[in-house]
This record gives sequence, C-alpha cells and structure tokens, in this order.
Amino acid sequence: MRFLRYGSALLLAALAAAARAEFPDKPVTLLVPFAAGGPSDKIARDLAEALRKPLGQTVIVDNTAGAGGTIGAARVARAVPDGYTLLVHHIGLATAPALYKKLSYRTLEDFEYLGLVNEAPSTLIGKPTLTANNFAELRQWIADNHGKVNLANAGVGSASHLCGLMLQSALKSNMTPVPYKGTAPAMTDLIGGQVDLMCEQATNATPQIEARKVKVFGVSSPQRMTLPLLAAVPTLSEAGLTGFNVTVWHGLYAPKGTPPAVLARLNAALRVALKDPELIKREEALGLTVVADERLAPAEHRKFVEAEMARWSKIIKDSGETAE
Ligand code: MLT
Repeated sequence: MRFLRYGSALLLAALAAAARAEFPDKPVTLLVPFAAGGPSDKIARDLAEALRKPLGQTVIVDNTAGAGGTIGAARVARAVPDGYTLLVHHIGLATAPALYKKLSYRTLEDFEYLGLVNEAPSTLIGKPTLTANNFAELRQWIADNHGKVNLANAGVGSASHLCGLMLQSALKSNMTPVPYKGTAPAMTDLIGGQVDLMCEQATNATPQIEARKVKVFGVSSPQRMTLPLLAAVPTLSEAGLTGFNVTVWHGLYAPKGTPPAVLARLNAALRVALKDPELIKREEALGLTVVADERLAPAEHRKFVEAEMARWSKIIKDSGETAE
C-alpha cells in the first residue's frame, strides 16, 4: 500500500483531514522538471496564472531539472499525495521508460492523471551563422559535415532529444548530442553559435525566430503551423522527411494516492483554466494548441499516455538509444 511507504497511519489521517478541509487551503506547487525559461516552464507559469482563480489559491512554479526531466518527475512521484505538489510534464513522461534502464518512478502506476494541457509542434532551428537558408541546403550541409554536427537537447528523454532522434534516423546521420538542463540554456548557446542545431518546441523557438536570432528550417508536426510568422515554414515531412511527426504534449499529474475529492477539485480547476481567454491567447501566440475540454477526462489522459508509450518505445528501440 503506497501510504505505508510513509510508514504512519498519522499521515493517512492527515491526508483524510486535508481532503475534508476545503482543498486547497495553502499554495499549490507546479513542479517543472526542466530549467526555468524553457517551454515547459513557460507553459507551467501560464497554467499557474490561470489556475489561481479556480483554485482560489496561490499557485507557484518550482523547477527541478536534470536527466531529461526524470529527476523532477521522480520527486513528484515521491511527494506527499495531498494535492499540493503537482507535475507539469510533457511527452518525456511517456518515453523515459523506454530510454532509462533504471527509472525511479513508474509512469502509469505512480501518478494520478489530471488531464492534458496542450500540444506543440517543434521547430528545427539552427545557429544564425549557418550558411544554409532552407531545409534542402541544411540537409546538404549536414551530409557534408557528417559526424561533426552538434545537436542541443535537454537531456535523454527530453522533447528536443526525441525530436533529434527522429531527425537523425530520418537523415541517416549521426550527430553529437549536447545535453543541457533545459532548452532555455541550450537556446542561449544556439544563438551564440556554440551549438549548430536544435529541435525545439515552438513555445520557446517562436520568439527567437521572430527576432531572427536563429534560423528555422522546418516544423515537426504533420501540418504547417498557422502562426503567420511560421505559416511559410514547411513541415519536415513535406521538405523531404516523409511522415516526420513529433508533436510535444504537456499534461498535469499528482502523486498516486491523492484523495479522489482533491483530484476532482484539481481536474475541475484545470478545465476552467484551459478556457481562460488570456491563457489561450498567450499559448496560441506561441503556436500551441490548448487541449479541448472533451479530452480532459483523467481516463482519456491516461489512455493517451499509454498509447504514446507504445508508439515511442518502438521508435526508441529502433534508434538503439538508451540511457543509464
Ligand atoms: C524545456 O522546457 O527545457 C524543454 O521542454 C526541454 C525539452 O524537453 O526539450
């Protein structure tokens, strides 16, 4: 029994009392498993803002970065299941089990699923000094520099790492991965020219593309982005990597064993937050799609993650990529 992990009936009584008390009666923490300033952090801060009203409480964001998001995810899996420590995480929660031989949490068993939040395409972006100005020229440059190209990511299992895996296998070209604690620090090095390429979520890439601080070569989703700034950018599939499809999604989670009344309160607050016009405006301005209400049932969320685990474990196995 999970509660016994905390070794005392006292905790059980405290949790039951917490569930009976008007939850939440103190600030709620959204833990982001990547460094501040990256796409996951931006999404969590938007969500915290939109959750304040429906929860009637302060909602704070805390970053615990490292190991492609697995350190932060493990922290929430082990947190007291009282609803006050939640996880905002992306596709990495579904892919880590196929990538890490030793993982200190179980994706399907150690979390309560509170609902999906959004979906974001990734963009293939490059340092501003690259001579290539479109995907065909970039493809040639990668071929001419086989084995010498370095590709930034946020650690094994991060969205940027997964997109990079797909890119290398589609191009049949091995690149040198350069891992960071999140794609915010990676973006700084890309802009500075310390790394060559990155496959980064539009959330973080769009402002840098707009400011012409990086070059954009393609988007990872099956359809082009509708943002005027990026509508002319081809999908990687139409640019020659037929069928290329990496869509990064984010979800909200609580530790397993969180009282049902608290889960229901959190899911209801998420549904209100995702209808917040301000949040929708901010997310769409970055190329994100906020998940529609009918997909917010926790059972739907869990089923979606289970399907993504199956889909990605095959892609990862074929790539031969694993981590310790
Ligand atoms: C971040 O927030 O740093 C990114 O989501 C990391 C990644 O998964 O690429």
